[in-house]
Amino acid sequence: MRVIICPSAEEASRQAANMVAKQLQKKANSVLGLATGDTPKKLYKQLIEKYRENKIDFSEVTTFNLDEYFGLRPEHPQSYRSFMQEYFFSQINIPSSQTFVPNGLTSDVENYGAKYEAQIDSAGGIDLQILGIGRDGHIGFNEPGSSLGSLTRVKALTSETISDNARFFNTKEQVPHLAITMGVGSILKAKTCLLLAFGSAKSKAVMEMIEGPITSQVTASALQLHPQTVVFLDEEAAEKLARKKYYHEAEAAQKQLEIFSSDNTPLP
Ligand code: GLP
Repeated sequence: MRVIICPSAEEASRQAANMVAKQLQKKANSVLGLATGDTPKKLYKQLIEKYRENKIDFSEVTTFNLDEYFGLRPEHPQSYRSFMQEYFFSQINIPSSQTFVPNGLTSDVENYGAKYEAQIDSAGGIDLQILGIGRDGHIGFNEPGSSLGSLTRVKALTSETISDNARFFNTKEQVPHLAITMGVGSILKAKTCLLLAFGSAKSKAVMEMIEGPITSQVTASALQLHPQTVVFLDEEAAEKLARKKYYHEAEAAQKQLEIFSSDNTPLP
């Protein structure tokens, strides 16, 4: 796991956006896995800016979102489809037929997950998966106790997640108690994972994800098994890490390596 600690969330989002831009430069028809929440908003803003400056093009990109509330219409203002429209899709040149968000209204609960997995597979699999992290260490909506091999399915939310997400709704009672989410196993299939976490409220989950044991009680810890995961943090999210000094040293060494490697193509 590569851990990049930045002075601010802005800087972390800028560097993460550069990583996404490099992916699109390398492969115009990349498949991106997308996340919702406050955390990736700055990253989406940076990508929109790059698009407006003609530095990146989304016309051939396909996207799959991690999750959606069960029971919400796509047009519902708090649905994750609406979030993606507002903060990203409506401001870039991606055809809507190439954007996939789980259908929160599916009547085929039993088979829907397998169908979503098949759609991802037929697009060639996810090249780059963007992730946030919940305070209880969840990725997607894979709450503590989710199997580390889980695939897309319906999952019950914990009361902590329901309370955290109540800020997007008028009342806590309006927050759905179920969601359709890619599983931990689905996320681990992505070629590269890029996780963002900002603020001290996330510091415990971040510490457990990076330095704790691999456990279904902190589903993000499964990323320790992933061969290509990059974590972008601000100082506050990194404050509980025991090996912070090493992560800074490793980044300095990594920069030297990049100078000598072929991966020093200029940013788009
Ligand atoms: C929800 C989403 C996650 C997200 C998390 C944290 O639970 N399903 O994908 O990472 O919230 O959200 P925020 O970035 O707003 O803290």
